Amino acid sequence: MAFLSVALWLGLLAWPAAGAAPGCAPTPGDALGPFYRPGAPVRASVGRGYVLSGRVLGAPVCGPVPGARLEFWLAGPDGRYGDDYRATVLTDASGAYRFESHFPPAYAGRPPHIHVRASAPGYRVLVTQHYPRPGATGARFDLVLEPET
Ligand SMILES: [Fe+2]
Repeated sequence: MAFLSVALWLGLLAWPAAGAAPGCAPTPGDALGPFYRPGAPVRASVGRGYVLSGRVLGAPVCGPVPGARLEFWLAGPDGRYGDDYRATVLTDASGAYRFESHFPPAYAGRPPHIHVRASAPGYRVLVTQHYPRPGATGARFDLVLEPET
């Protein structure tokens, strides 16, 4: 343990995200699921009551990714997926986005979640999910993309 601490202090050990700024590890992926459909209309809202916002950043330096394409989809209030609950949102010049929806319902044994597919030129496509906290009216959800190699 002492060696590890000293080695870390001296910078002798390489972490998987070597060179990354603190907090700039790529966002972990999550299941695409069976309900993704490409081509969702560009719109900032598909409902009211839950606001997801944040920034799209690029590893390893966490610079903003303007013009990133975020595709959101979630189950409707009745627990069914449909085109009314799909949207495409583009990040602004600072990489920021905002998306509003209803609070997603739990269904089929899964906790409430919002699917996200993030894409931008020069970066690997990220498919992940956001899990709202019970009773929350929104959350900040930054997405860190990995550069294409
Ligand atoms: Fe889902």
